[in-house]
Amino acid sequence: MASTSVKTLLLSEKDVIEAGATNMAQCLEVIEDVFRLLGQGDYLMGGPLENEHGQMIYFPKEQRFPGMPVTGPDRRFMAMIAYLGGKYNICGEKWYGSNAENRKRGLPRSVLTTILNDADTGIPFTIMSGNIISSMRTGAVPGVAAKYLARKGATSVGILGAGVINKACLLSIKTAVPTITEAYLYNPTPERGKAWAAEQSKELGIDVKYVSSVEEAVRPADIITIATSGDVFPRIETEWIKPGCLVTFTGDADVDADAYTNNTVVADNWKMHEAFLADGREHPNGVEAVGVVAPTYHLLEHIEAGRYVPKNIVNLGDIVCGRKSGRKSDDEIIMFLTGGMPVHDLAWGKTVYQNAVAKGLGVEFTFFGEAHWK
Ligand SMILES: NC(=O)c1ccc[n+]([C@@H]2O[C@H](COP(=O)([O-])OP(=O)(O)OC[C@H]3O[C@@H](n4cnc5c(N)ncnc54)[C@H](O)[C@@H]3O)[C@@H](O)[C@H]2O)c1
Repeated sequence: MASTSVKTLLLSEKDVIEAGATNMAQCLEVIEDVFRLLGQGDYLMGGPLENEHGQMIYFPKEQRFPGMPVTGPDRRFMAMIAYLGGKYNICGEKWYGSNAENRKRGLPRSVLTTILNDADTGIPFTIMSGNIISSMRTGAVPGVAAKYLARKGATSVGILGAGVINKACLLSIKTAVPTITEAYLYNPTPERGKAWAAEQSKELGIDVKYVSSVEEAVRPADIITIATSGDVFPRIETEWIKPGCLVTFTGDADVDADAYTNNTVVADNWKMHEAFLADGREHPNGVEAVGVVAPTYHLLEHIEAGRYVPKNIVNLGDIVCGRKSGRKSDDEIIMFLTGGMPVHDLAWGKTVYQNAVAKGLGVEFTFFGEAHWK
């Protein structure tokens, strides 16, 4: 009989970086490939409808016991599970804690772990530091969207939020759309915004300008990337959005319903956003409760209030598969919704894991030699 010992490879943040986790060109290929699998249906996510983002602990408004966390900006604890087919053929999960207050402690807003499991036995063959994997896979999604949906010859990006996620989003957009030469960033704290803009100008070789309002970042943009944290969402007036613009919602923004009704809406996976809405309807505090996790919260509120009726929403996977068409004209405004899916963490995680194995990185530990009870 073969050995029943189970070994698990532990990969730190340093290891995953050494294994190429920050390689956006490769990440874009992988994330595009996952959209193809989504279009083909070769995946499963959690819940009976097979499309749930994850399972979240909703922290209460009032503390019930000493030490019990309470709700707050970007405060959640979440397990995101999936199976992904194709050449990946794995189960796995990303789980994380997020708290905007972490910044004051010198920590990232969220701290994430990626675990990859054999799809057959469930054995966890690697436990990886998940922050870089998650930021890169998140950033790559608007990059894939830009490849398929941005106006030809797009030159300018509007950026709302000078954070970690928008660094990855801008990198992926610039990688996917090489005609980009300039960007306009708004962040409510100017020191942070100016430092971010200077760093990214140098890093990407494009002109990233810090601007002092949402309007100044939105008006000139061919592509907009939204990824802010905290409890004040950027407000975007519909008239500020330039004809031909691709607006990508990695984080939420306050936009009127007509911006969705009168323009094209494309989603990473609309069924997942419907699942967010269903969760909100079940929650005692209503749809407002999913505002802490769903980047489509304002849109879901429009649906709940009858201001927006979702119809003809196209999934990006269907466009990547060639089943649906993408942009139809240079003037078309496209609103692209992305809520974050564990299938992307699995695919990028497995690619990085394979690179790490090839390079002999990480520390292997014995999960069990011979299982004590079986
Ligand atoms: N869709 C996904 O797959 C996915 C995945 C990960 C994170 N996210 C979301 O991305 C967002 C950003 O995450 P992060 O880790 O980069 O956060 P971060 O805290 O590192 O950065 C966010 C930045 O936004 C700024 N900001 C706050 N309010 C703003 C406003 N009204 N207008 C412009 N800027 C504003 C903050 O000052 C901060 O600099 C979060 O909302 C997070 O939930 C989405």
